Amino acid sequence: MSDVSVPNDVTLMEKVVNLSKRRGFVFPSAEIYGGFRSTYDYGPIGVQLLRNVKDAWWRSMVQMRDDVVGLDAAILSPPAIWEASGHLKNFTDPLVDCRQCRERFREDQLEDLTICPGCGGKDTFTEARNFNLMFKTHAGPVESDAAVAYLRPETAQGMFINFSNVLQSSRKKPPFGIAQIGKSFRNEITPGNFVFRTREFEQMELEFFVPPEEALQWYEYWCVTRYQWYIDLGIPESKLRMRPHDADELSHYSSGTSDVEFLFPWGWGELEGIANRGDYDLTQHATHSGEKLDYFDQATNSRYVPHVIEPAAGATRTMMAFLLAAYDEEEVRGETRTVLRLHPRLAPYKVAVLPLSKKDDLMPMAREVLGLLQPHLMCDFDETQAIGRRYRRQDELGTPFCVTIDFDSLEDQSVTIRERDTMEQVRVPVADLLAHLLPRLV
Ligand code: GAP
Repeated sequence: MSDVSVPNDVTLMEKVVNLSKRRGFVFPSAEIYGGFRSTYDYGPIGVQLLRNVKDAWWRSMVQMRDDVVGLDAAILSPPAIWEASGHLKNFTDPLVDCRQCRERFREDQLEDLTICPGCGGKDTFTEARNFNLMFKTHAGPVESDAAVAYLRPETAQGMFINFSNVLQSSRKKPPFGIAQIGKSFRNEITPGNFVFRTREFEQMELEFFVPPEEALQWYEYWCVTRYQWYIDLGIPESKLRMRPHDADELSHYSSGTSDVEFLFPWGWGELEGIANRGDYDLTQHATHSGEKLDYFDQATNSRYVPHVIEPAAGATRTMMAFLLAAYDEEEVRGETRTVLRLHPRLAPYKVAVLPLSKKDDLMPMAREVLGLLQPHLMCDFDETQAIGRRYRRQDELGTPFCVTIDFDSLEDQSVTIRERDTMEQVRVPVADLLAHLLPRLV
């Protein structure tokens, strides 16, 4: 990204939010009904980008390893899980109400505990009350206490409660991991900053089970590995940092946590936490369920409760970071060109097939080229507007390559490939098209 041309950070945020709406990345939810604050819908381009973020994570965490397996656990879950995990008791924010204006605030986010930021009232706050962030509902037709269920606030617990199932069915042994991608729900008091903090979001979590004496070494391994994942997918080092938690930030069971942070327009914000959780989770579930959640090591003839290293990332938040990092503007022939310099693996469309004119003569060949590429690559097909405008649109979607079919193509069976970042064009025979594109898109 060219530093000179990047808009300053306040406008960067506005520009990315506007682009997201205009080009179909992210829409505010329930907009035609006045909106539903804190949830978002992912449009035709956004769904593709989000899917590519999740696929890139799955590829590196599951596909490319032989020590991690996948899982897709239920979202709706009984209170027993959250009792054991500690969420029923501890997953809370302290809230205060202003007696004067009736607004509600998180006590830990107030600058001055004696002044209400809503109405300016002095000493108008109630005592703080703990507010649980889990969404509660009822499973079945009766709204009784016995029917209470929760929407999971994290994907992690699904992996702990399936530890034995996975261990036995996959024949893995520690060190090994269970990975999961899926929706989580938190009744956040202060959602905001676009999709950074929402009440419905997606997580990508790994629970990596290790012999206790290897925990520190694996914690360090995952800190390095996860940081590198963001760099490899195009986040510049100047916008990414690893921040170890101070002792007073650690949960009581964690002997170490580090956050991968991105420099958002308002400052550093967490993309992912990597935590050394000890044997807390398996022990809690074993105690509450009465099931053994441990591992018998035949080599040493001993039984132990594995320790857990947990890299826990947000998919939707990470997608936003990739968008912000990729956004660029540059001057081209007196005009501003907006371009998303997304890593090709993340780009929603890999190729746009563009017949130079809408005239009937070019359509059969353009459709043929599309048919050749579609089984291998996500493609867009656009026959409207002048070619320059169509290139600009694809630049804004982050499409790495445009393939143009012109009248010469009918004669020489070749097409023009235009590259997004350099705007350079090369002529390539249709027969060589896939071989030219594929290596440049990994
Ligand atoms: N199992 C551990 C766990 O859930 P977390 O730090 O609460 O840890 C992990 O969540 C990641 O999930 C965060 O780093 C963030 O990227 C994402 N996340 C958490 N709450 C979120 C929210 N309200 N909106 C969007 N993403 C969120």
